[in-house]
Amino acid sequence: MQLETRFNLIITICLILGLSVSGVLFYQVQIKQARDTLIHDAALMLAYGLAVRDYTSNEVGPALEHHLAEKMIPQTVPSYAAHTTIAKVREQFPEYNYREVALNPTNQADRGNAWEVGLIQTFREQPETEELSGEHVGTNSLHYFLAKPIRITDDVCLSCHGDPAVAPAPLRNRYGTGHGFGWTMNEVVGARIVTVPAYVAFRMVNNSLLLMLASLTCIFLLTHVVFIYIFRRYVTRPLELLTKSTEDASLNKVTNLEHNMKSSGQILVLETAIKRLRRSLNKAITMIKT
Ligand code: HEC
Repeated sequence: MQLETRFNLIITICLILGLSVSGVLFYQVQIKQARDTLIHDAALMLAYGLAVRDYTSNEVGPALEHHLAEKMIPQTVPSYAAHTTIAKVREQFPEYNYREVALNPTNQADRGNAWEVGLIQTFREQPETEELSGEHVGTNSLHYFLAKPIRITDDVCLSCHGDPAVAPAPLRNRYGTGHGFGWTMNEVVGARIVTVPAYVAFRMVNNSLLLMLASLTCIFLLTHVVFIYIFRRYVTRPLELLTKSTEDASLNKVTNLEHNMKSSGQILVLETAIKRLRRSLNKAITMIKT
């Protein structure tokens, strides 16, 4: 195989190997960073929902307590407050969501869909599971989700969600008695589920990967072309000329070892040595002839 072809082959193999290894490493690091950001966003949304919830039950509820006997004020219900404020956030960020869903909800809008019901069932069947997270393909796009169970640990919840007969009359009047009751102590009745868009982050990772591979390929190809040009000019071409001249000399043909090859470095040393050898040979032949 020609020296140049061999170099071309070696460089191409190095290029493919280098691109594959750096591509895989780059992708792994980037996808991990994208996931970390999604986990962080989801945790932030959840903390936000819980903060609204706590604020409502600790401050809004007690402030309006004296009105609650006569009428139902949904603004004092933590779940209502969380859903209402998140709906405002979603006007600007429709891909983000925080939901408190239940198997048997007071407000029918809080009834879980098939996927959400699946998560609640998992929490019910595995009481030790405190959190579920991962990727989920929603109605039309990929999301990252974080879910926590809603377990009844406080008696006060049962005053409105336990026996409908003891629930405040305004609540029954507004929501009816057909749903949202019969919850029991320590039962997992629902889940808090946060969803954040994942496809944007993953698409950005893919774009960065393509950009990185394209720029590396450009650098590699440019280096390759320059290297092959220099190699041809200073190694292959002088070597070919030298080989041709040496071949002619060995066959006693008229040779032109004095041609202008612009050699340098080791090639120049070799060329000078061959010229010297040729001159010595010529001298020796002349001496033998005389
Ligand atoms: C004063 C009555 C009252 C109390 C006490 C109460 N809730 Fe509710 N809860 C409601 C009402 C009313 C809704 C429906 C709000 C709406 O319209 O979105 C609701 C909604 C919910 C929801 C959303 C699903 C659904 O049923 O619509 C969850 C989950 C929930 N409550 C859990 C709890 C927990 C846990 C506690 C105890 C820490 C509790 N609630 C205490 C009245 C109450």
